[in-house]
Amino acid sequence: MTMHRKSIKGTKSKKLEDKGIVLGITGSIAAVESVKLSRELMRHGAEVYAVMSEDAKKIIHPYALEFATGNPVVDEITGKIEHVSYAGDHDKKCELILIAPCTANTISKIASGIDDTPVTTVASTGFGKIPIIIVPAMHSSMYKNPIILENIEKLKKHGVEFLTPKFEENKAKLPEIDDIVLAVIKKLYPKDFQGKKVLVTAGPTIEKIDDVRFITNKSSGLMGIKIAEELDMRGAEVNLILGPTYLESFVKTINVESYEDMFNAVMSNKDVDIAIFAAATSDFHVDNCSTGKISSNQPFNLALIPNKKIVEEFSKVSKSFIIGFKAEYSVSDDQLIRKAYDRLQSSNMDLIIANDVGKESRGFESKTNEVYIIDKTKKVIHLPLEDKEKLSEKIVNIIKKYLN
Ligand SMILES: Cc1cc2nc3c(=O)[nH]c(=O)nc-3n(C[C@H](O)[C@H](O)[C@H](O)COP(=O)(O)O)c2cc1C
Repeated sequence: MTMHRKSIKGTKSKKLEDKGIVLGITGSIAAVESVKLSRELMRHGAEVYAVMSEDAKKIIHPYALEFATGNPVVDEITGKIEHVSYAGDHDKKCELILIAPCTANTISKIASGIDDTPVTTVASTGFGKIPIIIVPAMHSSMYKNPIILENIEKLKKHGVEFLTPKFEENKAKLPEIDDIVLAVIKKLYPKDFQGKKVLVTAGPTIEKIDDVRFITNKSSGLMGIKIAEELDMRGAEVNLILGPTYLESFVKTINVESYEDMFNAVMSNKDVDIAIFAAATSDFHVDNCSTGKISSNQPFNLALIPNKKIVEEFSKVSKSFIIGFKAEYSVSDDQLIRKAYDRLQSSNMDLIIANDVGKESRGFESKTNEVYIIDKTKKVIHLPLEDKEKLSEKIVNIIKKYLN
């Protein structure tokens, strides 16, 4: 297993497919990041139209943005009235204006309704009509200027979204590119789970044998993380309870280690609308766990005691819509569905998602999965082998249908 820590935000998706985004670039040194930013937006399906201020062109040449986006760069407003075609009432080409990096100068101009550069003119035209996200980048002393802060607050009151800079080396730097892309996706994504409180568990747990050894399993937590992220982007208030894994998530996360930690964290979150149990929580705990390090000079017999099923205990005390996962190893599809249905009944779940982790490219450690979703009436929905990101979108769509 590759044990490097990898952000899962940088993956490719279709989440910005058919979305036109105006990328406004101003005269900050961080303008050198705009090529990478535009490529990342495009990796998620966006069509990017770069608009540059005169001072941005002193930092990076428009050719670089033309090459990166595949679209002509607007570096002056001409008789074609580019600002209206990108962000105006008629002939609207773009769904969102992203100004990254945004100088102190451009923030203050937009806040004062001044439009004397291509970037401020597009912002002024789209103001109040399409979402605007501003990503400031400047020296800390400029960012702390009370006038700039006032202008930021003023724009926020008008619905403009600001991303918090990364404060480093006395500078208010651009946040990570992944975080900027995520903010754009979140802004444009449907909000059909707004107002729903959701609990998602993911990843493995570890059961101590002594102070240096433990038992665990191969779960990476990817499936649960992807479901949690999909729900979060669709407006739900998500708590992700995550066992020890090399993956991380942008969703609000409670990190746990053992079965007991997982049990306690789950039970503290029972007042939710939806609970999704995707974690591969340990089925056993070690009855004869030792302190220190057990000597290897003599045989040692582990006594493993089965744990109570967390979902079963949860279903006794929560009124939420409960979705469980069932992993089987190399069984027939019929057996997989039958065993999953039995578990759905014994644990009082509303839906169960079954997968065979013994088959290639499915389940633990894999980026893809194939699942069967079974409901209380024994209806089975088959979702064929697919990337876990896309699969999570389909799973969430199915959950939505059951909630309606
Ligand atoms: C190399 C260089 C780097 C700069 N970096 C920044 C910056 O990070 N943030 C900022 O607000 N201004 C920065 N400036 C100053 C702006 O370019 C200047 O305020 C300009 O008027 C901004 O015009 P614009 O907002 O129309 O692009 C920088 C200037 C230079 C020459």
